[in-house]
Amino acid sequence: MKFISTSVSLAALFASGLADVEIDFGTTTSFSLVAVGGINNVGTSGPITGDVATTGHTVNGFPAGALEGTVNTRNAVADQVRADALAVYNQLHPLQGTLVTATPDGTITVEKGPGDLDGHGTTNFSGAVFTPGIYNVLSILEVVTNITLSGAGQFIFTTGSHTRLSPGAQIILADGADVSNVFFASGDSANFSSGSLFQGRFFGDSAVFMQDGATAIGGLYSGGLMNFTNAGGVTLVS
Ligand SMILES: *[C@@H]1O[C@H](CO)[C@@H](O)[C@H](O)[C@H]1NC(C)=O
Ligand SMILES: *[C@@H]1O[C@H](CO)[C@@H](O)[C@H](O)[C@H]1NC(C)=O
Ligand SMILES: *[C@@H]1O[C@H](CO)[C@@H](O)[C@H](O)[C@H]1NC(C)=O
Ligand SMILES: *[C@@H]1O[C@H](CO)[C@@H](O)[C@H](O)[C@H]1NC(C)=O
Repeated sequence: MKFISTSVSLAALFASGLADVEIDFGTTTSFSLVAVGGINNVGTSGPITGDVATTGHTVNGFPAGALEGTVNTRNAVADQVRADALAVYNQLHPLQGTLVTATPDGTITVEKGPGDLDGHGTTNFSGAVFTPGIYNVLSILEVVTNITLSGAGQFIFTTGSHTRLSPGAQIILADGADVSNVFFASGDSANFSSGSLFQGRFFGDSAVFMQDGATAIGGLYSGGLMNFTNAGGVTLVS
C-alpha cells in the first residue's frame, strides 16, 4: 500500500455531484484542431474530421495526412477560434477541485524527482477510475495504463505542466460518461504516444504531439504547434 497524504479525503476524490461548469465554447465546436504554431504531419495521419485552424505558420503534410474539414490559416476565422479556445483554457485551467496525488491502492502515484510529496513531479494514472468532478495535477500528468471515466457528468482535469499518454494507454468512458463532457486544461505540451487513445477536448498551452497510431475523439486546441507522425484519426465531437 502506498498512500501519500492529501488535503482531501478519499471520499472527496471519488465523490461526484458537483454542478457542471458552464463553458462557452464559441466557434471551437466545429473545429477538431486549433494551433498557434502550425499543424505539421509526417506520414499518413488521419482522417481528421472537423475544421482545422492555425493562427501562425502553416498546415503542412496534408496530404499524405487526411483532413476532411476546412483549413483556416492565418485568417480572421483562425484568430477567432484561437481566441475562443484560449478563453476556454483560461476558464478551466484555474478551477480548483480535487488535488490528485495518490490513492491508497497505489493506482495513482507521484514520481518525485524535482517535485515533492504534495503533487509536484509526475503524477501517474495507472488503471485509475474517476467519477465526474474536477481533478488537479500540480505538475506533469502521465496516463501510464488505461484509465476509466465512469458516470454521467462533467470531467475536468487540469495540469500545471505536460500531459502524456504512454504507449497504448487509453481514456475509457463507461457507465454513461460522454466524450462531450470531458475536458483537459494543460499548462504545457501534450504527447499522445503510439497507439494511445485520447477522449475529450484538450485545451493546452503548448505543443501537441500525436505519435504513430495515436487517435483522439473530441478536439485538440493548442497554444503551440501540433505535430502528427503517422497518427490515427481525430474525430470531432463537441
Ligand atoms: C510513472 O510513469 C513513467 C512512465 O511510464 C515511469 O517511467 C515512472 O517510473 C512512473 N513512476 C512511478 C512512481 O510509478
Ligand atoms: C485498454 O483498453 C482497451 C480497450 O478496452 C483494451 O483493448 C486494452 O487491452 C486495454 N489495455 C490494458 C493495458 O489493459
Ligand atoms: C513522446 O513520447 C514518446 C514515448 O512515448 C517519446 O519517444 C517522444 O520523444 C515524446 N515526444 C515528445 C515531443 O515529447
Ligand atoms: C514538428 O514537425 C515539423 C515538420 O515535420 C518539424 O520540422 C519540427 O521539428 C517538429 N517540431 C518538434 C518540436 O518536434
